[in-house]
Amino acid sequence: QDIPSLHEVFADYFPIGAAIEPFQTKGLKAELLKKHVNMIVAENAMKPSSIHPTEDQYNWGPADQIVQFAKENNMQLRFHTLVWHTQVGDWFFIDRDGKPMIDETDPAKQEANKQLLLERLDSHVRTVVSRYKDDIVSWDVVNEVIEPNDPDGMRASLWYQLTGTDYIETAFRAAREAGGEHIKLYINDYGTDDPTKRELIYELVKELLDKGVPIDGVGHQTHISIHWPPTDLVIESMERFAELGLDNIVTELDMSLYAWNDRSDFGDNIPEDVLNKQATRYRELFEAFKAKQDILSEVVFWGIADDHTWLSGFPIKRTEAPLLFNDVLHAKPAFWAIVDPE
Ligand code: XIL
Repeated sequence: QDIPSLHEVFADYFPIGAAIEPFQTKGLKAELLKKHVNMIVAENAMKPSSIHPTEDQYNWGPADQIVQFAKENNMQLRFHTLVWHTQVGDWFFIDRDGKPMIDETDPAKQEANKQLLLERLDSHVRTVVSRYKDDIVSWDVVNEVIEPNDPDGMRASLWYQLTGTDYIETAFRAAREAGGEHIKLYINDYGTDDPTKRELIYELVKELLDKGVPIDGVGHQTHISIHWPPTDLVIESMERFAELGLDNIVTELDMSLYAWNDRSDFGDNIPEDVLNKQATRYRELFEAFKAKQDILSEVVFWGIADDHTWLSGFPIKRTEAPLLFNDVLHAKPAFWAIVDPE
């Protein structure tokens, strides 16, 4: 196909990335990736449950495959994610007697459990960071720790219920110690455009920075739709974090065809005007990103083509087409809108 390379088009601005699975390092998908992106991230292979399924066992194989693919093709690599409340082995939260830590009522044992959990986390972070510290340009240290509807605006995960915000502090400090000064550490979340959520993240990060916790920037997942949010809100959020001297990354970009609370399904007939609207939105977004290149250092899509997108199963099973290439890997109107914005 005689089309421009996406990452070359943006070479003066920021790397362009995509999330991938190990099986996509071969075949047609791999060719598409090699042409268009100069950064990759593991869609699942580096999450805690995949990379550290039981306490004494690390599963490096799938993660290493992705590292290898990046090296062979001169792509930068980012890491997703050292800590999360989901896709994490249950073993983290079971005490030495085989009992769920959360059921403990004796205060002395609660404190012992908290220490055990933080030690496990510290060991997980140091082991993973030590192995990949020279391969990764940016690390998602924690993912989705803010939840405006939970008490204190902190997600009421087992991590938070058992340790408060100590787990966040432990993860960042361990990563810095294991990886050294040059590695870049991020707090990643979705809905960072929402001013309420944005301010909760801002307050948390500010408090941690004041305590000397090493945080370099904010990862904005940017799972958006053709209807929401307005580009201005996305950009305002980056500007807000830049006030703290922080970097910003777009970590999981995709653009659903449906409004968030809409449960309809286009099936086999995605209307042309919907794809055109998507193109217009993508154009506006990337023009805004370019203008903010001083505070935005990477733009990473959550996938590359519509044949493989987590949104086709979330929040319901249906036809989705959130990316720049369609389900037969051809460039969509959104691709052309970005590479040729006039
Ligand atoms: C998703 C993957 O794409 C799916 O394959 C998996 O089944 C669930 O997780 N926010 C994140 C990502 O931070 O890790 C999620 O990835 C998508 C939402």
